[in-house]
Amino acid sequence: MLRERMKRYQARCEEALEARLPTPGTLPARLHDAMRYATLGGGKRIRPVLVYAAGEMLGAPLDTLDGPACALELIHAYSLIHDDLPAMDDDDLRRNKPTVHKAFDEATAILAGDALQTHAFYLLAHDPTLTAPAEARLRMVEALALAAGSRGMCGGQALDLAATGQRLDVVELEDMHIHKTGALIRAAVTLGALTAPHAPEETVARLDHYAKCIGLAFQIRDDILDVEGETSLLGKPAGSDQAHDKATYPALLGLQGAKDRALELHREAEASLAAIDGDTAFLLQLSEFIVERMS
Ligand code: IPE
Ligand code: IPE
Ligand code: MG
Ligand code: MG
Ligand code: MG
Repeated sequence: MLRERMKRYQARCEEALEARLPTPGTLPARLHDAMRYATLGGGKRIRPVLVYAAGEMLGAPLDTLDGPACALELIHAYSLIHDDLPAMDDDDLRRNKPTVHKAFDEATAILAGDALQTHAFYLLAHDPTLTAPAEARLRMVEALALAAGSRGMCGGQALDLAATGQRLDVVELEDMHIHKTGALIRAAVTLGALTAPHAPEETVARLDHYAKCIGLAFQIRDDILDVEGETSLLGKPAGSDQAHDKATYPALLGLQGAKDRALELHREAEASLAAIDGDTAFLLQLSEFIVERMS
């Protein structure tokens, strides 16, 4: 069930992104091509999948979720472009293709990230399939801005850069991961909930806790895969963290310690879902997928 439903959401997201990105060849063509190159035809689309799954569970019609799902993926795609830049992780491979600064050039990569970010907010303001009232849209803009900014993903990336070559304790490491990766995953569930009219507050709070747990588990698994995954499966260079002396869960707790922590978070996510009155089976499978995935 997981695979099929994920595939359905992934295909939907691909089509929705295609429809919302600039048409190829339109000016400025190099910038538009780089935006499309970074966004289309790759990636697990976990954040859009979460928007769709949380939104549907709360009663939002699927076609009203395309705008928020795409907004999340555009922010994510931008974060990957910038994360790979020489000034940051200096990686050459992403989603099995040369990174944007390699396929194009550094300046184009920076601008493509900038433009994808602003396009995400444009979609929340303007997307014609988004039927949520203006107040709910404003709350989406607020949630996405907070999750992407200096108190969310960018803040986490700043902590990551400052921690490179340093030894963090487990509280500091968790704080960094919650921000650099957890914040956007959490925002995906928030945007799904905001699209659903009359979502019960208590359920949304439980879903938010679920999202917080799987967001942290997602980055812990990413750190584990950097150690024991294969470049060909990951689509990005294995061993990059060690090569750059990054602060990671396996570096601090060992591989087994990191796996135990991820499993513990999965259990905590499961407990949050168990308290919800509704069909949470797919969300539970998604949490399982996050801690077991090989790419
Ligand atoms: C990679 O994210 C960067 C992290 C935040 C860990 P994903 O593993 O979701 O990357 P794609 O979108 O599937 O390529
Ligand atoms: C990335 O963390 C977090 C982002 C905000 C993009 P990583 O640097 O570990 O992600 P990968 O391994 O390059 O995908
Ligand atoms: Mg990084
Ligand atoms: Mg990186
Ligand atoms: Mg990584």
